[in-house]
Amino acid sequence: MSHSLSVRQLEAWYGSNQTLKGINMEIISNHVTAIIGPSGCGKSTFVRCINRMHETLSGAKVKGEIILDGKSIYEQDPVVLRKMVGMVFQKPNPFPSMSIYENVVAGVRLNGMRDKQTLQGIAEKSLRMAALWDEVKDRLNYSGMSLSGGQQQRLCIARALAVEPSVLLMDEPASALDPIATLHIEELIRQLKEDYTILIVTHNMQQAARIADSTAFFLSGELIEHGPTSGIFTNPKDKRTEDYITGRFG
Ligand SMILES: Nc1ncnc2c1ncn2[C@@H]1O[C@H](COP(=O)(O)OP(=O)(O)O)[C@@H](O)[C@H]1O
Ligand SMILES: [Mg+2]
Repeated sequence: MSHSLSVRQLEAWYGSNQTLKGINMEIISNHVTAIIGPSGCGKSTFVRCINRMHETLSGAKVKGEIILDGKSIYEQDPVVLRKMVGMVFQKPNPFPSMSIYENVVAGVRLNGMRDKQTLQGIAEKSLRMAALWDEVKDRLNYSGMSLSGGQQQRLCIARALAVEPSVLLMDEPASALDPIATLHIEELIRQLKEDYTILIVTHNMQQAARIADSTAFFLSGELIEHGPTSGIFTNPKDKRTEDYITGRFG
């Protein structure tokens, strides 16, 4: 299914520090969109705005509009919105006191599902989508913390997918992982885009080039350039994008 996500004149602040300035961006459905840019340019703030997490931080403020499937996210209950917009963080964060199985179905349970067979079906489906099922199917009752870092991150992806979001936000999801686990996650992202709209923050330009259909370059809270990844990396239109991708700053 396709989902439209449109960001209009988005501005964000922490206290008096404005970290996003007039961002306009159409995020393409069933695509992987990468957000790149130097540290502190507002990448994390941007993705946190999309599931309305930014505004929960004390002193944080947001202005502008984000439209998901034709509806303003600000007119929706944040709890409902976060079912549609899943998030995977930089550091894998399984719920420490829960088993692998309990981790995956935690969100679905929270939404009121109690039927054991349904929950088991959702757990298997989500773990398969996260390419983790074969590795954990015989130890679903082990702690989520018993897994390797890369497995924990796939568990967190399974947990996000279990509630069937339409958009998946990933903030540097592979930056804490070793190269093999990173390739695993990248392969998974390529597969997931068939069903999801994926927005991935990465500081790794090779990674953006490998997995993203389109890439957006942020600098000092502004969106400088957004377009097909191949164009951004081979023929950037803005001098600042070119300077960044050729390593002249950042
Ligand atoms: N919780 C916070 N409180 C105050 N300032 C913050 C907070 N998080 C980020 N910032 C500031 O907002 C700016 C953008 O940060 P961030 O979105 O984390 O950038 P990036 O993810 O691109 O590194 C930076 O100047 C950073 O210091
Ligand atoms: Mg960040």
